[in-house]
Amino acid sequence: MVSCCRVALLGFGTVGSAVARCLTSRPGDFQLTHILDRGADRKRSALPAPGVAWTTGMDEVLRGDAHVVVEAIGGIEPAAGWIRAALLAGKSVVTANKQVMARHGASLLTLAARQGRQLRFEAAVGGAMPIVRALGDGLAGDRITRIVAILNGTTNAVLSCMEASGCSLHDALADARARGLAESDPSADLDGDDAAAKLAILCALAFGLRVDPSQIDTRSSADITAHDLARARAAGGAIRQIAHAEYDRDTATLTAWVAPIVVPRGSIFASATGAQNAALITGEHSGETGIFGTGAGGSATAVAIMSDLAAIARDRAAILPAPVLSSPELILGSTTLNAELAEHAENDLLCGLSGLCVDRRPYAEVV
Ligand SMILES: NC(=O)c1ccc[n+]([C@@H]2O[C@H](COP(=O)([O-])OP(=O)(O)OC[C@H]3O[C@@H](n4cnc5c(N)ncnc54)[C@H](OP(=O)(O)O)[C@@H]3O)[C@@H](O)[C@H]2O)c1
Repeated sequence: MVSCCRVALLGFGTVGSAVARCLTSRPGDFQLTHILDRGADRKRSALPAPGVAWTTGMDEVLRGDAHVVVEAIGGIEPAAGWIRAALLAGKSVVTANKQVMARHGASLLTLAARQGRQLRFEAAVGGAMPIVRALGDGLAGDRITRIVAILNGTTNAVLSCMEASGCSLHDALADARARGLAESDPSADLDGDDAAAKLAILCALAFGLRVDPSQIDTRSSADITAHDLARARAAGGAIRQIAHAEYDRDTATLTAWVAPIVVPRGSIFASATGAQNAALITGEHSGETGIFGTGAGGSATAVAIMSDLAAIARDRAAILPAPVLSSPELILGSTTLNAELAEHAENDLLCGLSGLCVDRRPYAEVV
């Protein structure tokens, strides 16, 4: 590190409090200057760190001397507005916010480049699984054609718990809540909306496409029963919520969906249990690259944020190029799944899509 990097933190919840503990345990590299939270008075005793200013006012953060603002409050507003304000105030930003990055990522990254500052967002997709870096850096030299991934740790924890214990979805959810892996309202996780927002971010990174999360077809996992999982098991599979995106550049056609489907027991996806995430990325020249990691939880997500902070601290002058995004001509959803399966009607279980295995019967009959 060149010199101590000063950091202001927005949000002292699951992720923010874990980041605060990391920052205060590395005093040589980072200095935590501010914590903004609407419960600042109530929460300040949870972090005995003298020298940290607790506040409820964003103006105080903007006037402060932090080099970087970490946004961990969640939601679209005021988070997006505060990220914009921090960039305009000359600060770099690290965010864990998939909703903001899926909807406003391109304009915020453009603003960051114009301001000569950085906006990093590894924590917004996959928690500690470094898929943003994999697509943005490691595989940037290839033309990515397909991403198949588990992107929602809550749903994965619920489905793998049902699979292991034979319990109901209701009981698996209670277990996930008790372990801090599910919120009181898990509908955005189970219905696929959370994974769709993350998939939209990945479509921008991998294919250079502007996709609104609402354009991505989602099928809910909320109706899956222990019986469905037992049937999948008997057929040599497991049920996982899979996010799938594939881009045909010749026809500018994007196929994108999030749905619970049957995957083979030996696959990287069936191996992901609890809050784990997994992804298989296919490139024209590199073939398949797999990544696997902890997709949720305060400590795991804080790792992704700390890695982004370390990258900024290493080179504060680096400017990340703003993305140039185009819109796909056509977006197809999960109906293509059934059409593809119909072509392989001779197989009970179709193994294709790089080890992804789906039942040939229409989706509604499968789960
Ligand atoms: N939790 C995970 O495993 C995980 C993983 C990856 C990414 N993320 C992302 O990380 C972000 C934070 O998630 P989280 O789980 O840490 O949420 P959280 O536990 O609800 O924490 C958010 C914190 O910000 C505060 N806050 C919310 N809105 C505010 C506002 N307008 N002004 C001031 N304070 C405000 C909340 O206060 P109250 O306590 O009063 O609500 C809370 O302390 C989200 O974007 C989420 O998608 C989370």
